[in-house]
Amino acid sequence: MSAVPPAEPAALSEPGASPTPGFPPAASPPPPQPTNVVDADEAAIARAVELLRAGEVVAFPTETVYGLGADAGRAEAVRKIFAAKGRPVDHPVIVHLHQAVELANWTRGVPVGAQKLAHSFWPGPLTLVLPRAVNVSDAVTGGQDTVGIRVPSHPVARALLAEFGGGIAAPSANRFGRISPTTAQHVAEDLGDSVSIILDGGPCAVGIESTIIAFADDEPMLLRPGAIGAADLERVLGRALRVPTSAAPRAPGTLAAHYAPKTAATLVPPGALHAELEQLAERDEAIAVLARTVTRPPEFSDAWIDAPTDPAAYAHDLYANLRALDHANADAILIEAVPAGDEWLAIRDRLERATRGEDDDRD
Ligand code: TXA
Ligand code: MG
Repeated sequence: MSAVPPAEPAALSEPGASPTPGFPPAASPPPPQPTNVVDADEAAIARAVELLRAGEVVAFPTETVYGLGADAGRAEAVRKIFAAKGRPVDHPVIVHLHQAVELANWTRGVPVGAQKLAHSFWPGPLTLVLPRAVNVSDAVTGGQDTVGIRVPSHPVARALLAEFGGGIAAPSANRFGRISPTTAQHVAEDLGDSVSIILDGGPCAVGIESTIIAFADDEPMLLRPGAIGAADLERVLGRALRVPTSAAPRAPGTLAAHYAPKTAATLVPPGALHAELEQLAERDEAIAVLARTVTRPPEFSDAWIDAPTDPAAYAHDLYANLRALDHANADAILIEAVPAGDEWLAIRDRLERATRGEDDDRD
């Protein structure tokens, strides 16, 4: 995708706001709003800052997905994130900063290319993996010699960072191996009471995780495609990005099945979707479909979502759509494959991970 949607939530329609013909009513009414979900007003942000200072974890919105944050300067606080997520402790987390000038506290030597990217795309959905400063704890870096840094643009994340005055370590606020949350309710669904406050800033504008570029050896490498497209990054860098090989710096988020729904999901080319549905119907299987251009057959009565046709809106709704289809308790999820262009790269990446087999590693 080349266009970065604005930071404010609600710039795009809410998932589910578009008509979803054939989507059956939920089996049970939605659970009541948990008490730890609070509107992200000034008082709630002040409370979250107090909790961060006390070494606790808080969930907060960013323009990409919700994050589960802790004081990045305190290893014991960062370890609580891993406990809440059920994530292995040697996986690195991104440090969120209010401003790029704070880079000096967390990194040693920022390559010119990284400076250019920071200048052009921060605040925004870009993470830079850079050589770490000596004082950065292994709890943050997973014991690696690099640290991932991001300056987010979401107003709530910015207010939280400004008032906290330090780095906030935050992975996506989902259980290990599950889909990233793009609403406060998703966070509550995954993490429940294990987090004392979930700041509700509405649905995330981007909807998929940040683009990650590593500069471990001065050579820019794309570790994870995201909202900021490779072509835009290359234009600013004035050179081509390398793409990962097996020797690339470890990024557990790039392991297979990282973004997987519980129901087995399969990618199907648009031209084959109707035939596939007919076959599964013969076997009496309940199917949940994420379509984009293919129309719902009149006789189809299971869960069906028409995803937006443009990449930014598709990404915005993607994880909410996958969660909704997962909740349909179908035997299988079929996902209409998306186009091959660069603007769909990050979405193809997430869809491919969502449709990998059960035996793959999960982060
Ligand atoms: O959009 C995002 O990046 C969201 C929001 C909350 O900022 N965060 C996020 O964090 O997606 P997480 O932990 O779910 O994914 C970050 C990815 C992981 O795959 C992690 O391994 C990788 O970034 N990462 C972090 N630090 C790294 C490092 N020093 N070297 C290589 N990979 C790193
Ligand atoms: Mg994650």
